[in-house]
Amino acid sequence: MTTIDRLVGAGIDRIDGPAKVRGTAPYAFEQDPGEPITHLALVQSTVNRGRISRLDPSRAEAMPGVLAVLTPANAPRLGGGLTSDLPVLQSLDVHYQGQVVAAVVAETSEIAKAAVGAVVVEYAAEPPDVALRTDRPDLYAPDKLMAGFETDSVIGDVDGALAAAAVTVDATYETPTQHNNPIEMHTSMARWEGDSLTLWDANQGPHSIVKDLVTGFGVDAGQVRVISPYVGGAFGSKAFTHPNQMLAAMAARVVGRTVVLELTRQQMFSLVGHRTPTIQRLRLGADPEGRLTAISHEVVEHTSRISEFAEQTATPTRVLYAAPHRRTTHRLARLDVPPPTIMRAPGETPGMFALESAMDELAVALGLDPVELRIRNEPDRDPERDVPWSTRHLVECLRTGAERFGWAGRDLRPGIRTDGRWLVGTGVASATYPTRRRKAQCRISVDGAGRYTVEIDGSDIGTGAWTVLSQIAADALRTDLGSVELRIGDSRLPFAGGAGGSTGLASWGTAIVFTARDLRTRLEEQYGGQVPADGVTVDGELPGESPAAKTHSMHAYGAHFVEVRVDRDTGEVRVPRATSVYDAGTIVNAKTARSQLLGGFCMGVSMALHEESVTDERYGHYVNHDLAEYHVATNADIGDIDISWLDVDDQLANPIGLKGIGEIGITGAAAAVANAYWHATGLRIRDLPITPDKYFRPR
Ligand code: MOS
Repeated sequence: MTTIDRLVGAGIDRIDGPAKVRGTAPYAFEQDPGEPITHLALVQSTVNRGRISRLDPSRAEAMPGVLAVLTPANAPRLGGGLTSDLPVLQSLDVHYQGQVVAAVVAETSEIAKAAVGAVVVEYAAEPPDVALRTDRPDLYAPDKLMAGFETDSVIGDVDGALAAAAVTVDATYETPTQHNNPIEMHTSMARWEGDSLTLWDANQGPHSIVKDLVTGFGVDAGQVRVISPYVGGAFGSKAFTHPNQMLAAMAARVVGRTVVLELTRQQMFSLVGHRTPTIQRLRLGADPEGRLTAISHEVVEHTSRISEFAEQTATPTRVLYAAPHRRTTHRLARLDVPPPTIMRAPGETPGMFALESAMDELAVALGLDPVELRIRNEPDRDPERDVPWSTRHLVECLRTGAERFGWAGRDLRPGIRTDGRWLVGTGVASATYPTRRRKAQCRISVDGAGRYTVEIDGSDIGTGAWTVLSQIAADALRTDLGSVELRIGDSRLPFAGGAGGSTGLASWGTAIVFTARDLRTRLEEQYGGQVPADGVTVDGELPGESPAAKTHSMHAYGAHFVEVRVDRDTGEVRVPRATSVYDAGTIVNAKTARSQLLGGFCMGVSMALHEESVTDERYGHYVNHDLAEYHVATNADIGDIDISWLDVDDQLANPIGLKGIGEIGITGAAAAVANAYWHATGLRIRDLPITPDKYFRPR
């Protein structure tokens, strides 16, 4: 039973839909600051490592319409304490290719871009070191992984158990560098009035951006306002501050005008992070019935010289399957690359490709159905934390998915089904993602006419948050949608963490539920249930993680079933149909939830077949840094996708019973495709993406 159960669950249309379709919802670039806008364009380093030896802005400065050329020589000094790539234009040192070495402010974007070409920059460069390899002598163990996870975990005697196992798998999987490519490029429009800054910005949470601006510009938090009501997609690259926000604010301060910076698509390949490449060695040991005795998952990945980003790649392996002997490790190489960042299910996405591919290889070695193998290794408690699950319905997802997909009677043999030129196969993989929530504050007011205003700095990055938060609020206030006005996406609103880690709805929604409860109690106790003529306002707060997070292990689960077809003549790979079933707790809006789960899965297909930022190890750049050559799945790549979920909830996670759905859909999806590819062709591809040429590799 969910605590609130009226609007929650309904497939309500997006309340921001009409404004977006009509083009009246203002994105960052379209905001009106009330004065003419000037434009910023960037000069970027052409080397990965070294120092600027000469920088001459004089020709650019002399161009009509140019207002300023910012360089390390004249840029305002930023406050100490900024990390990674945020101290922009503070030094002549170069740490990655694409680093901003100068910036031009001009009356128009055309003038600014033309002036960029007139800035002369020379470098004393050193050769780039960008190759990730497992035999690098400089690999190191970080103190902690992202999100506070331990770097390693060791239980029992893994090597002994592997040596004694009846059946083993020992395989190495590689995932490439990938780049976040939301449709809206990162955009920041800055305006100063005295010492107060307004930044209209594309991000995943205004409050998360304010802190760095405060540090950089030495102003008080109250003097910085970040406004982001509408965001054109985000998968992680808009979660944290990047050079664009710092540069727009800096330039606006220098010229005393409103400045807008819209990154180009190409600039997004160096300035807003990427998913680290990974090399993962998986070793599994099992008894003849397929019960795992040992799991070892060793990860090598990269970070940059100027930041430590330790992706939690092997963490899903710590929870997914039972085995008495287990080990996970993470090692990093510091390379001359831009700082990596999060990208939809960082950790789980590359990690689950390796784990779920290895499980498929084990099923093949055992001659066992891969669904049955997973069911036989279902743990009754969290196998590493040794605590109970809050709720876990992975087996039900596998069984329901198998039923919906038509898995029964599947022939285990690979490479034997054809349909004309096509080789046909099917594959399965599990999905999992942690369920968490974070601190959030909320303010709810009701006026004498019974109209509610709900204020919280939540963020809608295309997920449907405008709609689902309104649904939750209306239910919690025992009113209808039309009586609730939601305000989100503005750092002036009560504090909330950003849209990330699939924590948004659990955090903001719970804060709204708690605050609504307080308001209703106040109305009852102080006003006998009648709203006074001048209204009532209540401030509420959700302290953070559920108390049950200490005593229980909380995760969302899912199962993907995929059909793959491979053209024997061209190696072309198609995914004509797929079924995914989720245990994601309470589904608040059937329509927007389906869209999130579908989007996650499609991104997994994209990872399996297309996405790779190709690094040129000689010159250190990403060769395919635009959407013409960095392929992402489009409509033509996506077949018939059947999305469903179990009717379950998780009351230990939050009072709404939801588990978060932004990221679960991508986890395991690439492995399901690769496993089906093996079933179609007999070829095991352990290095993504599965491009057509890999079909013709020497066997
Ligand atoms: Mo998501 S990678 O947590 O923004």
